[in-house]
Amino acid sequence: MSLSIGVIGTGYVGLVSGVCFAEQGNTVWCMDVDTEKVTHLRQGKSTIYEPGLEPMLQRNVHEGRLHFTDDLRMAVRNATVIFLCLPTPPDEDGSADVRYVLQTAEDIAAIVREENLGGRRIIVTRSTVPVGTSDKVREIFRRVAPDADLRVASNPEFMSEGNAVQETLAPDRVVIGSSDPEVVAVLRELYRPFVNDYDRPLIVMDEKSAEVTKYASNAFLALRISFMNELSRYCEAVGADVEFVRLGMSFDPRIGRRYLHPGIGFGGSCLPKDIRALSRSAQEAGAPLRLVEWTDRINREQLERFVNRIRERFGGSIAGRRFAVWGLAFKPNSDDVREAPSLKVIAALLGDGATICAYDPEAIETARRVVGERIEYARDMYHALVGADALIIATEWGEFRSPDWQRMKTALRGHVIFDGRNLWNPDELAARGFEYYAIGRRSYAP
Ligand code: UGA
Repeated sequence: MSLSIGVIGTGYVGLVSGVCFAEQGNTVWCMDVDTEKVTHLRQGKSTIYEPGLEPMLQRNVHEGRLHFTDDLRMAVRNATVIFLCLPTPPDEDGSADVRYVLQTAEDIAAIVREENLGGRRIIVTRSTVPVGTSDKVREIFRRVAPDADLRVASNPEFMSEGNAVQETLAPDRVVIGSSDPEVVAVLRELYRPFVNDYDRPLIVMDEKSAEVTKYASNAFLALRISFMNELSRYCEAVGADVEFVRLGMSFDPRIGRRYLHPGIGFGGSCLPKDIRALSRSAQEAGAPLRLVEWTDRINREQLERFVNRIRERFGGSIAGRRFAVWGLAFKPNSDDVREAPSLKVIAALLGDGATICAYDPEAIETARRVVGERIEYARDMYHALVGADALIIATEWGEFRSPDWQRMKTALRGHVIFDGRNLWNPDELAARGFEYYAIGRRSYAP
C-alpha cells in the first residue's frame, strides 16, 4: 500500500530516507528550512555526495512521487507518517541537543491544531536522539494538540555514508520502537519492501530500547576500532604486525571482519558525537559506560600519537616543513569532513608552523569551507607531493592504493611516508626506497 510520507530535514538521513521511500512507491514530502537546498533538490540535484542517490532522486521527482518544500505545513497536511530527521548536535558537555526535534514536534502539533486536521498521524524520530526523546515528543503533543490523533514512534537509521542508498533499500535490520499496535502495523507496511523474514528482519521493541539500540550500535562499532587501535600500539611494542593479527582474528565468525581496521582513529558526524552523548547519558543515569568512555579517549590518543610520530621524525620541530596530505574526507567515497582525522592532523601541523598541500578526490571543496586557504589544495595526488618533506595518508581512497611509485619518488622531496591507514606493505615500501611509518606494523626508519 502506498503511503503519504513526510520527511522533516533533508540532511543525510532525511534525504536518503525520503528518496528511498519514494523509490518504493510512496508519495514523499521532504521539508527543509534551507530554501536554497530545497531549490537544488527540486531541480533533481543532490545536495550530498552519495553513490546512486542523484539518479534515484531525479527519477522520483520526475515521476511525481517526491516533493521538496520549505513549508512545514505542506508536509503536515499531506503526510500520515512524518519522519523527524533533524540534527542533534552536541551540547557543551557532549550530550545531544534535541532542541530542533522538540521544536519541530511543537510546530507540527500547532499546525494540526490550528488547521483542525483530522485523521491519525504518526511522528517518527529517525535521526539519532537520546533515550527518552519519544516521551518528550508525546508530552508536547498532549500539551499543544490534546484533541489530535498524533502518535509517536522511534525508528533509528543505521546507514553509513557512501553506502547509504544500498543500506536503506536493503537494511541489515529495521528497528521500530513503539508499543502501539496500530503504529507498528503502519510501519510494518511501509517497510515491507525493505525487509524479509530471513536475514533482514524488522524488529519491534519499546521506544526507549530502540533509542538505546542506535547509540549502542555506534558505540560498539567505535569500540571495535579503538580496541584495534590500542592493540596496534601493543603490536608495535612487541614487534608483531597488527594487520596479520587482524586477519587472523577476523575469520572467526564470532568476531567478524568489519570495523577492525586500525588507523588514525574514527571520525565522521556520528561515531565520535554519539559515544560522547552516550557516555554523558550513562553518567547522568548513574550507570557509567566505562568502555565507551575509554573508546573515546583511545581514539583521541591515537591521533595524538600519529602527530607525535611525525614531530619526532623531524627532531621535535616541524616548523617550516612541508607536508603532502592524501585524503581529507573522514572516510573514502564521501565528501564529508566532519570530525575528519585528516583535519585534526592538519590543524596540529599548522599549529606547529608547517605548510601543507592536500589532495582528496571528492572533499576538497568541503574541506576548503572549514580550513580555508590556510593550506594549499592540489589538483591531483602527485601534484600534492611536489617539494614535500613527507607524505601523510589520512583517508584510504582506492586510487591511492596503487600509485605510480616513480612519479611519487620524483615529486616527494623527502622519501618519507606516514601512513595512517595501512595502505601498503612495509617491506615493499622499504624495498622501493621509502622511509615508511605505518600503524601497528614494522616501520622502516633510517
Ligand atoms: C556510522 C555507522 O557505521 C552507521 O551504522 C550509522 O548509521 C551512522 O554512523 C550514523 O549514526 O548515522 P558513518 O559515520 O557513515 O556511519 O561512518 P563509518 O563508516 O562507520 O566510519 C566511521 C569512522 O570509522 C571513519 O572515520 C572510518 O575511517 C573509521 N573506521 C571504520 C576505522 O578507523 N576502522 C574501521 O575498521 C572502520
